[in-house]
Amino acid sequence: MNNARGDKGLSKFEVDTEYQRLKSLGLTINMARGIPSPAQIQLSQALLSLSLGNDYMTADGVDSRNYGGQIGVLEARRLFAPMVGIPESQIVVGGNSSLAMMYECLAQAWRRGTPDSQVPWSQEPDGIAFICIVPGYDRHFAMCEDFGIRMISVPMLQDGPDMERVRSLVANDPSIKGIWCVPKYSNPTGTTYSPEVVEALASMPTAAADFRIFWDNAYAVHPLAEVDQPLADLYSRCEVHGHASRALIFASTSKMTLPGAGMAMFGASPANIDWWVKAAMLRSVGPDKVNQVRQVRFLKSIENIEYLMEQHRVLLKPKFDRVDQVFQERLGGLGIASWTRPAGGYFVSLQVQAGTAKRVVELASGVGLTFSSPGSCFPYGIDPDDSQLRLAPSYPELDELTLALEIIATCVIKASLDRQVAH
Ligand SMILES: Cc1ncc(COP(=O)(O)O)c(C=O)c1O
Repeated sequence: MNNARGDKGLSKFEVDTEYQRLKSLGLTINMARGIPSPAQIQLSQALLSLSLGNDYMTADGVDSRNYGGQIGVLEARRLFAPMVGIPESQIVVGGNSSLAMMYECLAQAWRRGTPDSQVPWSQEPDGIAFICIVPGYDRHFAMCEDFGIRMISVPMLQDGPDMERVRSLVANDPSIKGIWCVPKYSNPTGTTYSPEVVEALASMPTAAADFRIFWDNAYAVHPLAEVDQPLADLYSRCEVHGHASRALIFASTSKMTLPGAGMAMFGASPANIDWWVKAAMLRSVGPDKVNQVRQVRFLKSIENIEYLMEQHRVLLKPKFDRVDQVFQERLGGLGIASWTRPAGGYFVSLQVQAGTAKRVVELASGVGLTFSSPGSCFPYGIDPDDSQLRLAPSYPELDELTLALEIIATCVIKASLDRQVAH
C-alpha cells in the first residue's frame, strides 16, 4: 500500500465546485470491468483466421474434430504444465472458462463429495464453510453463497493470507472444507504469495480430511513489472507433505488470447483427476479439441507466451502508472486514501476512509462514472469498514482513464469532507 501523507487539502467549497463542474460535463464512463482492452484482444487477432485445414490431428494422433478426449489434447496439457507446476498427465484442459471448472469441482464435491469425503459436502450435518481471503474475488464468494457454504473472512497480508489465522481455523474446525486463493497478482490486491505462505498452506494440518485449496492461478503469467514474480509450486509442496489431493489448480488463457474463446485447465492429483473425469463424462462427450489445437498452434511455447504477455504488459503498464500518478497528485498527502501498486494482474485496490466507500461510488455515479461495486470484494458483498474499492484500469483508453481517476479522487475527497462536516 502506498499511504497518502500529510494533512494539506482543498476546502470543501473548492471540492464542491470541482464536483459540480465534473457533473456538468454530462459524462458516461464505465470502467467497472476488469477485462482486456480492444488493443489487447487485437494481439490475438490471428487466432480468428488460424484454420487447422487438413492438419487436425493432435500431437498424440487423435482426430480433434471428433468426440472424445475428455482430458483435453496432449499439446494443450503440455503447454500449461510448466505454467502451473503440475505434470501434463495430471492436467485436464476444458472449455474457455476456468471459473466454470472451479464451479464444477465445487458442485461435484457438493453432490458426491471428493475422493476423500465420508459424505457429500451437502450432507454434512452442520453445513460446511470456506475460508475467503479479503479483499478477494467476488465470484468465488458468490459461488459459496449460491451453494449455501458459510464464508469465513481472513485478511490478506503483504505476502499472502494471514496464515496464523488460517492455520488455527482449519486445524480446529472440521466443517471448513476449503479455501479460495488467487496466489499470484491476486484480485484485487495484486499480492503474490511468498514461498513460506505456500509451504504453510501445503503442510498445515486440517481437521477436515477432505480439505481442498482452490488455487485460482488466473494471473500466472501476467506481470506488470519488467520482472515476473515467482510463485512456489503448490502441488509439489502438497505432495511432499502427504497432501497431494489438497491442491486443485486452475488457470486459463482468458487474459492471454481471447477471453471468450480460449481454453481453461484444471490440475490435481491422479485421484482428483479421475474424480473429475467421471463427472465430466456425465455432462459432455468431450471438450472443443479443435479450439484447443488452434490455441496451442497460436501460443506455440511457454517462451512465446512470455513474448505475447510482454506485449500485453506494454499496453497495460501505462494505465497502472497513470492510476498511481493521478492518485499521488490528487490524494497524496491528504491522509485519506491509500492504494496498491501491483506488480502484475488486473486490479488496483483503493482504501478510502472508513465509512466512505459506498458514498464515493454514489458520488462518482452522480457524475456519470461507474467504476466499482462497494463491498464486492467481501463475502456477502459486505465490507465491514465500508472502506475498500476495486479499480480495473485495463479497459479504458488513457485519456478516459485519466478523467475517471480524477473523478474518483474528487469523490474520495468530497466523501471524506462531507463526512467530517456530518460528524
Ligand atoms: C481471479 C480470477 N479468476 C478467474 C477469472 C475468470 O477466469 P476465466 O475466464 O478462466 O473463467 C477472473 C477474471 O477476472 C479472475 O480475476
